[in-house]
Amino acid sequence: MPNSFTAQFGEFKTRYTSGKINKSVINKLAPDAIICDRKVARLYKNIMPVSVPVKLVTGGEQCKTYQQLELLHKWFAKLNLRRDGTVIVIGGGSVMDLGAMAVSTWKRGTGLVLVPTTLLGAVDASIGGKTAINLGKLKNPIGTFYPASQILLDVRFFNTLQPAQLREGMAELIKTAVIGNKALFNEIYRGRNSIQSKTVPENWVIKAAKVKAKIVAADFRETGLRKVLNLGHTLGHALELSLGISHGQAVALGMVSVCRVAAAQGLCAENDSNKIINLIAACGLETTCKVNYKKAEKLILNDKKSGWVLPLGIGAVIWDQEVDLQAAIDAISP
Ligand SMILES: NC(=O)c1ccc[n+]([C@@H]2O[C@H](COP(=O)([O-])OP(=O)(O)OC[C@H]3O[C@@H](n4cnc5c(N)ncnc54)[C@H](O)[C@@H]3O)[C@@H](O)[C@H]2O)c1
Repeated sequence: MPNSFTAQFGEFKTRYTSGKINKSVINKLAPDAIICDRKVARLYKNIMPVSVPVKLVTGGEQCKTYQQLELLHKWFAKLNLRRDGTVIVIGGGSVMDLGAMAVSTWKRGTGLVLVPTTLLGAVDASIGGKTAINLGKLKNPIGTFYPASQILLDVRFFNTLQPAQLREGMAELIKTAVIGNKALFNEIYRGRNSIQSKTVPENWVIKAAKVKAKIVAADFRETGLRKVLNLGHTLGHALELSLGISHGQAVALGMVSVCRVAAAQGLCAENDSNKIINLIAACGLETTCKVNYKKAEKLILNDKKSGWVLPLGIGAVIWDQEVDLQAAIDAISP
């Protein structure tokens, strides 16, 4: 496997490696159990070793429940999964959040390997150890910090994603580049005309993963710096909830908003702000939408991720900023 890096998150060490995943790569990890997204298992039958017990989970937000968590724990009990065992979780962010949560709470934590199969999963959800399930309509209030010992990336999984899923992953990829890697941003910008095709260069994913890993390593339990990862999320979350649009699209709109606000305040060069917005648009993501002030205000006040992050240019951001909500809304009004 050619490309890899290691990160230290608190007492946990994670190795992020990329290459071709097949049966023998999975077998070498000697897993005791595999939790896999049902759709992924159907599409990629060739990666599943026959001798390892597999639990299929229907991926998507609806899998992140207490009931699913209990089913996994009961399954671990049936397998007599030991504390020194290893579980591989294969899927997008939802199955990884659920599976990692189950593993982290089984006998206070067994071995965990993650195989992200979505772009968002590879650049974001797999890294940094946040595991979660939902509580009714509340998203992710129940969870643990439990990083995987290994994350295995194979970008060929992205070939079967829907175009909208790829765009959403691109939003997170761009976000990460804006936060901490100008060279990566410029690389993506130069390749912007081919972005809507199905391939995403492996090195973009690894570079973005490294940016997130570096930030999390510096602030594993999110007491400060890790908040920069919420670029675009303050207004973005409110839009996601009030308009019912996808998370990635909402974050993209949130980023457009803070880029314009930061440029208007003189914090970010106009040229950088425009470049970020152009790249978001080049990915096929919307850059304007109608927002109801009252609804957005209420949602932002209730949001654990509120606290505005503003770009200072490409590759640097500042967090915990005050922003006038009306100005943020005007910045993306059609
Ligand atoms: N833990 C974290 O740090 C973190 C960070 C960001 C997001 N998340 C979580 O991630 C979740 C979203 O994850 P997601 O966007 O990866 O989507 P997802 O896991 O919800 O999957 C969406 C759909 O894609 C399918 N799918 C997965 N891989 C596929 C593939 N290779 N080909 C075809 N279809 C495939 C799934 O079956 C599902 O139907 C949310 O629950 C969010 O809270 C967690």
